[in-house]
Amino acid sequence: MLETTNLRKTFKKQVAVDDVNLYLEKGEAVGLLGPNGAGKSTTISMMSSLIKPTMGDVTWHGKSIVEDPSVIRLHLGVVPQEIALYKELTAHENLKFFGKIYGLKGKKLENEIAHVLEMVGLTERKNDLVKNYSGGMQRRINIAVALLHEPEVIIMDEPTVGIDPQSRNYILEMVRRLNHEKGMTVLYTSHYMEEVERLCDRIYIMDNGRIIASGTKQELTSILSSEETILIELDRPYPELTLELEKIEEVLRVVETDKGMKLIVPKNSRLLGKVFRVADKHKAQMVSVNVQVPTLEDVFLHLTGRKLRD
Ligand SMILES: Nc1ncnc2c1ncn2[C@@H]1O[C@H](COP(=O)(O)OP(=O)(O)OP(=O)(O)O)[C@@H](O)[C@H]1O
Ligand SMILES: [Mg+2]
Repeated sequence: MLETTNLRKTFKKQVAVDDVNLYLEKGEAVGLLGPNGAGKSTTISMMSSLIKPTMGDVTWHGKSIVEDPSVIRLHLGVVPQEIALYKELTAHENLKFFGKIYGLKGKKLENEIAHVLEMVGLTERKNDLVKNYSGGMQRRINIAVALLHEPEVIIMDEPTVGIDPQSRNYILEMVRRLNHEKGMTVLYTSHYMEEVERLCDRIYIMDNGRIIASGTKQELTSILSSEETILIELDRPYPELTLELEKIEEVLRVVETDKGMKLIVPKNSRLLGKVFRVADKHKAQMVSVNVQVPTLEDVFLHLTGRKLRD
């Protein structure tokens, strides 16, 4: 129902979005995954008619929103990447202000405000100034604003960046409920692959302005069906161990992680014995060793040679 065709945006000489084709079907939760600067926010801005494409089109049920933004306005809620609230006002006053922009008023407006406050779990705090809210609570009100007019589609631009795990979990669970229980169509942008894996039916992976892969999680990870990952947790870093493991012929790549490293190896390569012997030689303390099937993070690494996050 919402679709982009050959969407392109350039800023002076820089190509921010390059020939992007993506679509949302009614009731789907779709992920847009990509690192910083991939072009996610620019794509979303064009999909919500905040900025005009340099080329290409965005259509809502076949009608161009580039030509006529009003065809989508009441059907779409957008949660911007930056918090867009009046910090000197209370949550309730903010919601009232934004509700009026959508043409809501009187009892209907108050009902909607009560409804969205309940949804984001901030009814009790509605009369507090937004500036006294935690980052996570501000994010939740930011989402509440986008839900006020009961849109059919919600587009969320990295709604969980920089907040505590509890708020993050709350938001993820809320998005899941909106999608599963209310049938709301969701476009969820993130550079956290776990979030996208958890919420989304289909995923687009974006890098350097382009969609470099798309499909269900299974379709995407099957790109790597010939590989598996040996995840090694160590008590501390052992640089020489990393170097020696890299030299093992069958090891395709070694990626350092927070607590150790990941070896990307061909499936069924039965390298564990060798890995243990090398670790032993370097007197490395292994806390745990796991063999894993590929994740979206691995797919991204495979396609671009880089990690999603630095
Ligand atoms: N208004 C603008 N003027 C000039 N360049 C811009 C503008 N907006 C975005 N860009 C550039 O376009 C590219 C894509 O930016 P965009 O914000 O869409 O990426 P993103 O995927 O949302 O990244 P992030 O994860 O950091 O939010 C970047 O290189 C950025 O510098
Ligand atoms: Mg962005």
